[in-house]
Amino acid sequence: MGATFGKYIWSNGEFIKWEDANIHIMSHVIHYGSSVFEGIRAYDTHIGPAVYRLNDHIKRLHDSAKIYRMDVSWTVDEISQTCIETVKKNEFGACYIRPVVIRGFGTFGVNPFDNPIETYIATWEWGAYLGRDALENGVDVCFSTWGRIAPNTLPALAKTGANYMNSQLIKMEAIVNGYSEGIALDNQGFISEGSGENIFVIKNGVVMTPPLSSSILPGLTRDTVIYLLKELGYEVKEVIIPRETLFIADEAFFTGTAAEITPIRSVDKIQIGSGKRGKITEQVQNAFFNIFKGKTKVPEDWLSPIK
Ligand SMILES: Cc1ncc(COP(=O)(O)O)c(C=O)c1O
Repeated sequence: MGATFGKYIWSNGEFIKWEDANIHIMSHVIHYGSSVFEGIRAYDTHIGPAVYRLNDHIKRLHDSAKIYRMDVSWTVDEISQTCIETVKKNEFGACYIRPVVIRGFGTFGVNPFDNPIETYIATWEWGAYLGRDALENGVDVCFSTWGRIAPNTLPALAKTGANYMNSQLIKMEAIVNGYSEGIALDNQGFISEGSGENIFVIKNGVVMTPPLSSSILPGLTRDTVIYLLKELGYEVKEVIIPRETLFIADEAFFTGTAAEITPIRSVDKIQIGSGKRGKITEQVQNAFFNIFKGKTKVPEDWLSPIK
């Protein structure tokens, strides 16, 4: 999937050119995975280009940093505003925004404390994450042989670079076996999430999604979808979900900033429901995309105009 990157990157208080945004090879992050980051989208909306749930993303960034004892030099409001400035500087409307906080180079060794905390923001234009027709026709996925990170190993609630080594194993295995995405189980063998998405499963009109205790990232799209489904009158249960529930589900879909709401049409070559986007999935997709047309009412601070 091609991307058009912005010409400028915000680097620790100033804009620098894309080609100058380099770090030293001995930076702590390169050797020990010490980064926390966010993935945020700006949409073209009824009020002009606007960033979706910006403040909530930056709060999660700060939470991830706090878990890893990283002191970020900028407040939630400052980073939020700077994300908007970065989109403007790059003359983008709809785009993807990536704030990342890393441990840079200070001294060498696992002990992270003597390395500087650095903050960067990059932006780029990106298409549909799981393929162009995925939003309409759904994706074929598999269960991964790799489990999701277990409690007391790496914290799943933090969005950190290191967690994505696990995601990469899940994604690579899925791709080499001909699937778009893999679903990992938690350390108890229950459904956790995709390599970069939360999952929802629907049976007999009841919508289920794994709870935070199933080693999931607390996705903001997941939160949006729970909100929208309740508004649409559906019951949403955050419950432990056995793997085989997916085989006999009527509908299933992924949620994520990149994946948005992507239907799942088969898992391990077993067709889910009719093998097409389900009715509830389509309803919640419409409600989601209607947020950006002003047709679905959501809390006002979910859209931050770029102006
Ligand atoms: C592992 C994982 N789970 C879930 C999500 C979905 O989170 P969000 O909806 O906040 O993008 C992501 C997306 O970044 C992810 O990487």
